[in-house]
Amino acid sequence: MNEKIAVIGAGLIGRAWAIVFARAGCSVAIYDAVPEALSACTKLLHDNISDLARHGLITETPEVVLARIKPAKTLAEALKGAALVQENVKETVEVKRQIFAEMDKLAEPGAILTSSTSWIPTSEFSEHLPGRHRILVAHPVNPPYLVPLVELAPAPWTSEETVKRAHDIYTRAGQSPVLLKKEITGFLLNRIQGAVLNEALNLYENGYASSEDLDKVLKDGLGLRWSFMGPFETIDLNAPEGVIDYAKRYGHTYRDVAKTQLPNEWDAATLKQIEDERRKVLKADQLEERSRWRDNRLMGLVVHKRKQAV
Ligand SMILES: NC(=O)c1ccc[n+]([C@@H]2O[C@H](COP(=O)([O-])OP(=O)(O)OC[C@H]3O[C@@H](n4cnc5c(N)ncnc54)[C@H](O)[C@@H]3O)[C@@H](O)[C@H]2O)c1
Repeated sequence: MNEKIAVIGAGLIGRAWAIVFARAGCSVAIYDAVPEALSACTKLLHDNISDLARHGLITETPEVVLARIKPAKTLAEALKGAALVQENVKETVEVKRQIFAEMDKLAEPGAILTSSTSWIPTSEFSEHLPGRHRILVAHPVNPPYLVPLVELAPAPWTSEETVKRAHDIYTRAGQSPVLLKKEITGFLLNRIQGAVLNEALNLYENGYASSEDLDKVLKDGLGLRWSFMGPFETIDLNAPEGVIDYAKRYGHTYRDVAKTQLPNEWDAATLKQIEDERRKVLKADQLEERSRWRDNRLMGLVVHKRKQAV
């Protein structure tokens, strides 16, 4: 790839996007309103890219990939010549409205403007902008250089051509785009993650299992399968004659259970109890090290998946 990409916001997600695009060969300009965030960025990028190299997940040296990422002093400098702008700043509607208004003024006329927002529909921050046809959500999963899914969630006024071009750019950058056919808060992934969290919190709060055992249900149970097939393929294979056969056998029970799965209130006392249990197995000062361990485990899994047939 030889497009220039602008990454706005050099926090956790902005840095990770910079790696995705630099790894694919793009020149990347990264900008942050806080200069210290930009200066801290180079070492963090170097560590992450070196981890990728150790797992054989980049074909070039870390130095070559890192050299494609250049800090920009201003938003205008970052946007100059960029074919796609990936925004990764604070998650509030007001901040997104402001940054998109500025970017729409400064970006090249043909540039696509995307947001990494986890929850906010495109129409909430693009409606009144002259360039609203070229704006859409491109929601990644942390970290996008390891987890390839990107949710493309256009507004009703985002042009088809913009969506097609964005789909093409993310695909060529090695990501796995999915398209939302209409807008919804939280898109697909966080809504599904929310449903799982809601039930895990309910089961914990009502005393059915410890937080450790509920985590095991996913990591030693459902999650193993989920790393290579989704819920529909799972039920297609879990009854001899496929989806309808599965529904005949178990559908009524799922329906009855669903009626008991009420919205959880994310009660402070419950969360404190879970946090206390977590701090017994992982001290607060070990969180960062454990995050790096998680990323390294993910890299091993990505390597394994790449060796398998689709
Ligand atoms: N953290 C996740 O797991 C995750 C996953 C997917 C999507 N996202 C989304 O990505 C976005 C960024 O999240 P994050 O976790 O990287 O946050 P973060 O706090 O790590 O980084 C945000 C960065 O944006 C900078 N910033 C704030 N206002 C700015 C402005 N006006 N111009 C330029 N820079 C500005 C901040 O200085 C900071 O460095 C959010 O919208 C979030 O919802 C996060």
